Amino acid sequence: MSIWDVKEFFQKISKKSDISRLIIEHQTYRNSTLNMIPSENLLSPAVAAAIASDLEARYTLPYSGELHGEIVENGYRGTRYMDEVENETNKKIQKLFNVPYSNVRPLSGHLAAMITMGALLKPGDTISFLPVDGGGYDGYEPHLLPKLLQIKAKVLPFDYSNWDIDYNSLKKHFKSVQPNAVIIGSSFPLFPFDIKRVREELDENVKHETMIFFDASHIFGLIAGKAYPDPIKDGADIFYGSTHKTFFGPQRGIILTHREELMEKINTDFFWRWQDNSHWGSIAALGIATEELLKWGEPYAKLIVQLSQKLGKMLSENDFFIRCPHRGFSKTHQIHVLEEEFMNKWKFGIVKIAGMLEESGIIVDNVGRMGTQELARSGVDVSDIGKIADWFIRTLKSTSKERVTIRNEIKNFKETLKIKFTL
Ligand SMILES: Cc1ncc(COP(=O)(O)O)c(C=O)c1O
Repeated sequence: MSIWDVKEFFQKISKKSDISRLIIEHQTYRNSTLNMIPSENLLSPAVAAAIASDLEARYTLPYSGELHGEIVENGYRGTRYMDEVENETNKKIQKLFNVPYSNVRPLSGHLAAMITMGALLKPGDTISFLPVDGGGYDGYEPHLLPKLLQIKAKVLPFDYSNWDIDYNSLKKHFKSVQPNAVIIGSSFPLFPFDIKRVREELDENVKHETMIFFDASHIFGLIAGKAYPDPIKDGADIFYGSTHKTFFGPQRGIILTHREELMEKINTDFFWRWQDNSHWGSIAALGIATEELLKWGEPYAKLIVQLSQKLGKMLSENDFFIRCPHRGFSKTHQIHVLEEEFMNKWKFGIVKIAGMLEESGIIVDNVGRMGTQELARSGVDVSDIGKIADWFIRTLKSTSKERVTIRNEIKNFKETLKIKFTL
């Protein structure tokens, strides 16, 4: 079965099912476009099939103890392969990220963050986090996860022109805030953060032990492929996040650490507090995506960064203004539109251009990010970037009729591509 066969399958029942018809329409539409949303990716046939397997309909509850007067090993029956799927997935994830402890149960990156914060922090504690207008994740804003967990949240100093933490101001920040944890997690990452420097500043300026949580939601696939530094090696205590952005797995979350006592706290709190069901078909899918990254992670991650850098350069040479030309635009899957410059030149902004691109068949979000991870996964090569940049630039100056022409060119181009880095 391939991911494209879903269409064939649903065709058979589409007369009886409106939802089947919508699935076909959605898939036909998205297959004919270039997806550049930085938080999504393409599932391989094996990963997609695992989500649709029988495992997704079952429960397991590993539990050694007495039930109704007898000693049992599981609250359910028929689970003989399910726990093995989870154990093997953990082992493969640990190998991929070079850590001894992992939890593959969180159902999303947000839940992985909440579970980590909830297990390792207590009410009244304080976190420092990246400002949202500097790419920080909205969920760490004081009125969101911190409010729920009754912790305080203070914004780290940020250097907007270099799109990085303002390391020179950390001393003052840490001396006054005295955080219990620093969360380094960006939804708009362009360059690796200097975690070693953050660790040094914490050690010098905070009176008690402070943990570094690294939210790798966007860049797990790049870490797996060694195109982005290993956060644990640089001084993070734990890292977690989504498995479906540059990590091309199912929509879930993972938590990883080298510190046994931290994982023990997370595991103790987990079951029946944060989550019950963990969706084992999708854990199997995560295991398969991990196998694919173990095999293909390095060429995949290298290609992503090459695509970002080349697209950044070509767009910015044509007044499609891209952030941080002085830093080479990107060392990740993302490039960002510089809205002010863009607006001055073209007299319209990010949302309008996102709408025009959508008409041309290029899907980006409405916040000025463009991601190259799905291009790499779909079979796009560095030599195709000239063509893609040209579609962006022509769209800028186009009439709606010309966008129909571009749309057809992109549709034809998509037909020539074949998914890569699969088992
Ligand atoms: C940095 C960061 N952390 C966490 C999340 C939440 O991840 P999820 O959508 O998997 O819950 C996001 C979402 O995109 C994110 O960008």
